[in-house]
Amino acid sequence: MRHKIIKLYEKAEKKGFALGAFNFSTNEILQGVISAASKLKAPVIIAMSEGERAFFGCEESVAVYNAIKKKHPHIILHADHTKSFKELKKVIAAGYPSVHFDGSRLSFRHNVRETRRAADYAHANHVFIEGELGGITGGSTTHNERLRDVLTTDMLTDPEQAKEFVELTGVDSLAVSVGNAHGIWVDKPKLDFKRIKEIKKKIGKFLVLHGGSGISPSSFRRAISLGVNKININTEIRVAYAHALLKGLHKRRDYVPYHYMKDVISAVSKVVEKKIIIFKADNKI
Ligand code: 13P
Repeated sequence: MRHKIIKLYEKAEKKGFALGAFNFSTNEILQGVISAASKLKAPVIIAMSEGERAFFGCEESVAVYNAIKKKHPHIILHADHTKSFKELKKVIAAGYPSVHFDGSRLSFRHNVRETRRAADYAHANHVFIEGELGGITGGSTTHNERLRDVLTTDMLTDPEQAKEFVELTGVDSLAVSVGNAHGIWVDKPKLDFKRIKEIKKKIGKFLVLHGGSGISPSSFRRAISLGVNKININTEIRVAYAHALLKGLHKRRDYVPYHYMKDVISAVSKVVEKKIIIFKADNKI
């Protein structure tokens, strides 16, 4: 599967679009993502963090993915923010074809060592692996602070170190800290485009932007033009889901979930459709 995934990233690189990686923790979110992707003929990544996997079930997520894949072969299941080797082994054993190993809280030396071990294991199992260097702060929810008060320059990814990191670890792609953070903040994130350009030039690998919620369409387009190949979106989906669910429950005339859940699915789908178009990933299958 790893080679197939690499081919997809190469296509994105060549054609100047970014793959959207959309997190899900419920079946309705998943249905919303799939509906947007099939409507717009877009390849997409469906992602689950450790918390999301714990809630949905790791093996359950693979079973659902295998069922969906039959109808929608242009979808990739990805294990987002996998923080230990034990968890990495678990997702690979369950059947995840793509994994993000997040050693960013470790010192550079330890991050290299742990990611190298993870990359060797992933590659031996034909699994695509994303590494992470730099501090990507915040959780995927809304925050009452200004990002500029939280994000310090020492958290940003150093281009020279990024080069060393990919050479020493052998990862297939790299997630970086370039002004991005998880969640929606009081202020809008300001991406450091010079840094993105430099990192891309130095690493020559696929580049990943986490913390996509709240970033403006023009910033996304510029980041893609500078070499970003995958963009993660979670909070905007979670917010749309919760608002539509509250509204649906309030308006419902009966207790049949598939009556009031329909609007929840389409609210998620709308968010995903907009991102696919901004990322220029429509009509790419
Ligand atoms: P947001 O919650 O900011 O969209 O970020 C999602 C993400 O990066 C998941 O890894």
